[in-house]
Amino acid sequence: MRFAFIIDPIQKLDPGHDTSVALMEAAQTLGHDVWITEADQLSVASGKAYAELRQVELTPVKLVDGRWVAELAWYQLSDRHLLCLEEMDAVFMRTDPPVNVPYLYATYILDYVDPARTLVLNSPQGLRAANEKMYALQFKDVIPETIVSQDKKVIRQFVERVGAAVIKPLGGKGGEGILFIEPGDRNFNSLIEISTLQNKSPIMVQEFLPAAKEGDKRIILLNGEPVGAVNRIPTGSEFRGNMAVGGRVAAAEITERDRYICSQVAPALKRDGLFFVGIDVIGGYLTEVNVTSPTGIREIDRLNTVRLGEQVIQWVTQLPHQSSAAS
Ligand SMILES: Nc1ncnc2c1ncn2[C@@H]1O[C@H](COP(=O)(O)OP(=O)(O)O)[C@@H](O)[C@H]1O
Ligand SMILES: [Mg+2]
Repeated sequence: MRFAFIIDPIQKLDPGHDTSVALMEAAQTLGHDVWITEADQLSVASGKAYAELRQVELTPVKLVDGRWVAELAWYQLSDRHLLCLEEMDAVFMRTDPPVNVPYLYATYILDYVDPARTLVLNSPQGLRAANEKMYALQFKDVIPETIVSQDKKVIRQFVERVGAAVIKPLGGKGGEGILFIEPGDRNFNSLIEISTLQNKSPIMVQEFLPAAKEGDKRIILLNGEPVGAVNRIPTGSEFRGNMAVGGRVAAAEITERDRYICSQVAPALKRDGLFFVGIDVIGGYLTEVNVTSPTGIREIDRLNTVRLGEQVIQWVTQLPHQSSAAS
C-alpha cells in the first residue's frame, strides 16, 4: 500500500521522539511505500487533491541503553512527483499547530480526497471541528472546572471561586503560554491582558489540579480505543509536564478511570473521523484532546516494549475500503 504523510519539514523532525517518524517507519517495516509532503505543497485541480510528494526511505532508529538512537542520515528522499492523493491508500495529516488560516486551507484541500478511495487521518472535517483545548468541554463530567472567556471580570470571578487556576491559550501546544494564576497574583490583570491579547481573544481558564505534579498522562486512542499511555512528570521548579519543556517520561497504566474517560470521548471521535488522537489526563480528569499531531508513540514503545506505530498502520490496512483503494 501507499501511505502519504503531510508533515513539517522532515529535517526538523526528531526521529527518536516524533510520532510521525514512528508511523512512517512502521509503514515501511510492514512493507508499504511511504511518501511525504508538506501542507504548502497541496493543491486542487479538476476537483481532486494533489500533492508534491517525495518517497522516503528511513533507516529505523535503534534502542541503545534505553534511548532511541538514529543515524545522522536517517532518511533518503526521491525526486518530487506531483500525484493525486487518491493514488495513496491513506494520508496522515500530521502538521504541528498552530492551526492558522493556511492550516485550515490545507484541510479544505483534503476535502477533495474521496474517502471511499483514500483514508485521510485525521479527517479534515474533524480537524476543523476540534480545537484541541475546546473539544474537551463537551465531556462535562470528566473535565476539571473550566471556562473560556476574554472578559477580565468573568475570569477574575472564576479564579476567585476555584482558588488557583491555569490559563491556556486556545491554540497552544507543548506547554506554550500555559500560566499558573491565583487571585492574589500581583500580575493578575496583566497576565489576563497579555493572554487575551488585550481582551480581544478568548482563553481557557481551568481549575488548577494539584495532581499535575504526579504527572500529565498521555493516552493514545486508535479509533476511540486506548492503545497506550505514558506519564509526563514536571521536573525542577516547572509545573508543566510537557516533554517540550523538560517533563520526565515514565511508564503508565491505562486505568479503569482512563477507560471510562475514553468511553465518554470515543463516540465523538468516531463521529468526527478523529482516528488517531492523544488525550491528556491529569488526576483522573480530561484536560486536552490532541488531534493535529499527537505524540507519545516513541516513548510508549520504549517504556512498554510495544510497537504502537505498527498497530496503527495495521488498523489502517485492515479497513474494508483500503483493499479496493488506489491502484
Ligand atoms: N488544570 C491543570 N492543573 C494543573 N496543571 C495543568 C492543568 N492543565 C494543564 N496543566 C499543565 O500544563 C501542561 C500543558 O497543558 P495542556 O492543557 O496539556 O496544553 P498543551 O500540552 O497543549 O500545552 C500539562 O502538561 C500540565 O502539566
Ligand atoms: Mg498537552
